[in-house]
Amino acid sequence: MPTDVNSLDEMHGLGLAVGGKLSRGDILLLNGTLGAGKTSLVQGIGEALGITGVTSPTFVISRTYPGSIPLIHVDAYRLVGEPWALFDDLDLESQSPESITVIEWGDGFVERIADEYLEIKIEFGEADDQRIVTFIPHGQRWSGFTL
Ligand SMILES: Nc1ncnc2c1ncn2[C@@H]1O[C@H](COP(=O)(O)OP(=O)(O)OP(=O)(O)O)[C@@H](O)[C@H]1O
Ligand SMILES: [Mg+2]
Repeated sequence: MPTDVNSLDEMHGLGLAVGGKLSRGDILLLNGTLGAGKTSLVQGIGEALGITGVTSPTFVISRTYPGSIPLIHVDAYRLVGEPWALFDDLDLESQSPESITVIEWGDGFVERIADEYLEIKIEFGEADDQRIVTFIPHGQRWSGFTL
C-alpha cells in the first residue's frame, strides 16, 4: 500500500517510524531518482537510532554512524555501471549483521549481500513536495511488514 508523503518533514517522520521497526542485521534498499528523498528518509531512520547528521557526501560511498544500533549508509550512485567488485570491496557483509544497512542506488547490488531486504521505492507525486513511498518486501523477514 503506497504512502503519500507531502513534505520533507513528513519524510523525516516516515523514516523515524521505519527506524523504530528495525533490528540489527536489517538491510534496506532505497530506490528512487535523483532528489526523490532517499537521504531524507535515511535521516529519519538515523533519528530513530539516536543519530544526527546523516549527509550524502559526494565521494564517500559508505559511512557508518554509531547509534543504538550502528547505521551503515551506502550511496552507491558512483558505482552504478561499474564492476561489481567495487561494491564487493565495501565488504558490507562483514559489518551488516551487527548493523542496520541502508543502500541508496543499490539496485542490482543488494542481492550480492542479502536474500532478505526491504525495498523502499520513492516516486515524485504531482505537487512539488509530494512523494509516493512504496514498501516492497523481499524474503521472510519482511513479509507482512507494516509500520
Ligand atoms: N516530501 C519530500 N520528501 C523528501 N524530500 C523532499 C520532499 N519535498 C521536497 N523535498 C526535497 O527534495 C530533496 C530530496 O533530497 P535527498 O537528498 O533526500 O534525495 P535523494 O533521493 O537522496 O537524492 P540523491 O539520489 O541525489 O542521493 C531535498 O532537497 C528536500 O528538501
Ligand atoms: Mg541521497
